[in-house]
Amino acid sequence: MYYPEELVEEVRLKNDIVDVISSYVKLQKKGSSYFGLCPFHNEKSPSFSVSRQKQMFYCFGCGAGGNVFTFLMEYENYSFVEALRVLADRAGVELPKMEYSREAQEKAEQRTVLLEINKLAAKYFYAQLKSEQGRNAYTYLKNRRLSDATITSFGLGYSNKYSDDLYRYLKMKGYSDEMLLKAGLISADEKHGAYDKFWNRVMFPIMDANNRVIGFGGRVMGDGKPKYLNSPETPVFDKSRNLYGLHRARTSRKPYFIICEGYMDVIALHQAGFTNAVASLGTALTAGHASLIKRYVNEVYLTYDSDEAGTKAALRAAPILKSVGITAKVIRMDPFKDPDEFIKNLGADAFEERIHKARNGFLFGLEMLERDFDMASPEGKTAFMREAAARLTEFDEEIERSNYIEAVARTYGVSSEELRKLVVKTAVRTGLVKPVERPKPAVNRNKGKEDGVLKSQRLLLTWMIDDENIFRQIRNIIGPEDFREPLYHTVAKLLYQQYEAGNVNPAQIMNHFTDEEEHRRVAELFHTRLPEVSTIQEKEKALKETLLRIKQHSLDEAMRCLNPADIDGLKKLMADKRSLQHMKELHISVN
Ligand code: GTP
Ligand code: MN
Repeated sequence: MYYPEELVEEVRLKNDIVDVISSYVKLQKKGSSYFGLCPFHNEKSPSFSVSRQKQMFYCFGCGAGGNVFTFLMEYENYSFVEALRVLADRAGVELPKMEYSREAQEKAEQRTVLLEINKLAAKYFYAQLKSEQGRNAYTYLKNRRLSDATITSFGLGYSNKYSDDLYRYLKMKGYSDEMLLKAGLISADEKHGAYDKFWNRVMFPIMDANNRVIGFGGRVMGDGKPKYLNSPETPVFDKSRNLYGLHRARTSRKPYFIICEGYMDVIALHQAGFTNAVASLGTALTAGHASLIKRYVNEVYLTYDSDEAGTKAALRAAPILKSVGITAKVIRMDPFKDPDEFIKNLGADAFEERIHKARNGFLFGLEMLERDFDMASPEGKTAFMREAAARLTEFDEEIERSNYIEAVARTYGVSSEELRKLVVKTAVRTGLVKPVERPKPAVNRNKGKEDGVLKSQRLLLTWMIDDENIFRQIRNIIGPEDFREPLYHTVAKLLYQQYEAGNVNPAQIMNHFTDEEEHRRVAELFHTRLPEVSTIQEKEKALKETLLRIKQHSLDEAMRCLNPADIDGLKKLMADKRSLQHMKELHISVN
């Protein structure tokens, strides 16, 4: 998908970054910039700045930064194209219809229609709840201690006792049977024709991260079965890629999520002030959920039901989360069933206390394991420690394993040295032990160096963007081709062009990158912190070292790729090598 660059630039120019961000964040003018509380991390004093002149934002606290597109991508979780469309719309810029394949176009249209249908249905259910027929449902929710504000903010509703009123309503709005079936709101059979799937239930609309209704859960008001009926998966409702409550949790500005099992738990937690609670949609937590969560936080608290099933679910979820780099802790709800009942009985402060007492996922697993052993007898405890040792062998990383050995030894009052020996013994016996460490292959050894060069390239680009004077002095020594990293190479090329044209415009360079990951990496370039050096001499020295490092690497690469028959290439390379020697004596002044 590709829009012409001029058009992207037009959209950017017509959306002043201060105006756009102001509708999300309260900004105050200070000098030439605007400041506010950063929406991307939790803070009490403003370190989030927006520059009207540069049309860029930057947070001194967490390092988030970029142009107006970046802001919407980060804040609304949009792709570049989604951000572009929203801003084009805002500024009244018409985007050309993209040349989709017919199939892709039909798919996109279908999604739009399904989202419309879901939205209308949610509004309909909400109106029913507020009407006379919805009185029982409303009372039910009130009895479950939900406030009017909570009911409204989660858009709760009621599907009434008529068997086909939603169907007729949506038909009246002009939707075909085919689409209504696809949306999962209608069932049909030969005997009864079309009828509503949800009947006499309290309705929980399920929203995606961008506040669009994608499905429903409906609860019986009593003991009927099934207790919850959920929309089937549809082209807009993928249960493994969405979480209930995520649309609000993602802007909660807390560094972790609370994951629970039920819709009611999420709602009760939000009402009690835990606005970072989410739940999976009646399914177990999957790897898809884990990577979705990882986009927002690195830490979660699992607060599953206290019963056997909930405990098992927590034990299963912890390693899935760990595999994407999320730390999981487990909050116990006993003697209550779930967070909803816990809060109803003990209140928010007691819940907060449980958060502080949460066990880390591994130790929680061991605690559950204790139940299978007679911990009071020496034999029982020994057998338990053997099993614990077996689990400890599964940590690949030395330091992590060692930390866990310490923690387990402390928890169970055994010597960590003894436990360590037991772990090694178990590992040897089960063949888990690693072969003797051999010197690492050359590729690996170079990795540190690679990263170093990458960092140098990034640093130098930041310097050049920051200070035209530096650019002027080095532009003949180092060129875009010396930035060997492909992304940096592109940025360098654009930057050189802009300098030559006499108009450096970082926000425009960013337009060039429409892939989210690339966009973020380029944003980072404009905000890399330069080394903290105290004197000008030190700064000059650092700059020169950076320059030489990049040039050296560039020459090494050129040498590596040189065709041995290319005599001219070789000559040029030799000349370059000589000029590298000259560069070492060169003086670059930094102000
Ligand atoms: P309440 O009784 O209303 O407090 O329910 P809860 O939030 O405590 O939910 P529970 O622990 O019973 O179930 C957790 C989640 O599993 C629910 O939010 C539903 O998503 C799902 N679920 C529960 N019961 C059923 C069912 O009968 N069928 C299906 N498909 N899903 C269910
Ligand atoms: Mn419950």
